Amino acid sequence: MQIQKIKGFADILYPQSALYAMVEDIARTLFSRYMYREIRTPMIEYTELFVRGIGASTDVVQKEMYTFEDKKSRSITLRPEATAGIVRAYIEHNIQGIARVFTIGPMFRYERPQKGRLRQFHQINCECIGAEEPLVDAEIIAMLLRFLSAIGITDITLLLNSLGCTECRPHYKEVLLTYLHSVAETLCPTCQARMENNPLRVLDCKEESCIRHLKNAPSITEYICMPCKEHFSEVQHTLDTLGISYTLTPRLVRGLDYYSRTTFEVVSNHIGAQSSIAGGGRYDTLIEEIGGKPTPAIGFACGMERLILLLQQPSSLKTPFYIASLCPEAKTQALLLAEELRTKGIGVEISSGVVSIKQCMKYAGKYAQYCILLGEDELLQGKCSIKNMTTGIQEMISFDSCVEYCIQQEIVSPDKVF
Ligand code: HAM
Repeated sequence: MQIQKIKGFADILYPQSALYAMVEDIARTLFSRYMYREIRTPMIEYTELFVRGIGASTDVVQKEMYTFEDKKSRSITLRPEATAGIVRAYIEHNIQGIARVFTIGPMFRYERPQKGRLRQFHQINCECIGAEEPLVDAEIIAMLLRFLSAIGITDITLLLNSLGCTECRPHYKEVLLTYLHSVAETLCPTCQARMENNPLRVLDCKEESCIRHLKNAPSITEYICMPCKEHFSEVQHTLDTLGISYTLTPRLVRGLDYYSRTTFEVVSNHIGAQSSIAGGGRYDTLIEEIGGKPTPAIGFACGMERLILLLQQPSSLKTPFYIASLCPEAKTQALLLAEELRTKGIGVEISSGVVSIKQCMKYAGKYAQYCILLGEDELLQGKCSIKNMTTGIQEMISFDSCVEYCIQQEIVSPDKVF
């Protein structure tokens, strides 16, 4: 039987892979303008890191982790997200002061696969560790939105909330729990089961009846303490100053337990049920919880598969120049010309061995923008025939001016396609 890929895992083939590369390139360029530096942490960590970091009662930890025992019976987990690993690295390398970092790579969650939801997916993840002021919250949100706009994603909504801090959230949880008890029979079985342990997550339930019965639930922003209120209003004020619009969403609780104060999500109406294309927030106590000194921090992650769904799929990109050797003597000349063009930054494919005119026209018609023919006549005259496969116009150009001629042609390159 033929071996197939694992459910929820995807092969990313060309030309889609070109879209991934383009998104990553823009991320690297743009984030470096904000002085975020790339880091790469392992794809596997000790399970304990995620249990402590993300929270034992979260869906991610309870149901979605790929956890195994290694050969020495230690529990290890394929990272379901990047923040916990980055924070571990920050502590382990004793990094001092503010660290602005980003990472790009695969994450693993054992969720039910559907459009925009995979078991191996890719995140672009940014963290600013060590800064507390609300201006940083607004700046990182501005960076995220600038990145989305740079890759061509528009028509999105920024949802914004504050989850308070360890001082004020326990009180809100109590108030919320009292309310949840009063509507408990109307809630779905999952919410009924999780409300004692994690009442905030109930607010995030997507079930129709839960949404309806939670309409009048107390709003967290009315219960947060004065320092959290001030922080949140400063974030909003700075976003206003930057001209960034947002929707205050008191129900936005996020799925990971480490958040405090500012939380945000960017949603799109154009990709179906899995509408969250990016999410993040502050996690001012996480570093302490996993063994570091008290250090405030904020970050976000974008789901690349969801970004790609929103981008126009490129039509298969055609090779700029296809060089066909029509006789054995032309093969070396073809290779020399190809290498010269590549030195000038032009993409070239050469025929595999000697081909007939018919074969080469058939192939170039499908896959190339220009076809360069090198046959006995051409070699005798010290020229090559260059055919524009779109217009059908063919010209004889001397070897000496061939490279210059090619440089002057209009070529569709990947950065022009997107
Ligand atoms: P998250 O909301 O769990 O946050 O994930 C961030 C983004 O990853 C989501 O908005 C979504 O676009 C994408 N995503 C999540 N799960 C899947 C999946 N199964 N398939 C495809 N895409 C998915 C975090 O991961 C936090 N670590 C973000 C963060 C960084 N907070 C602070 N710093």
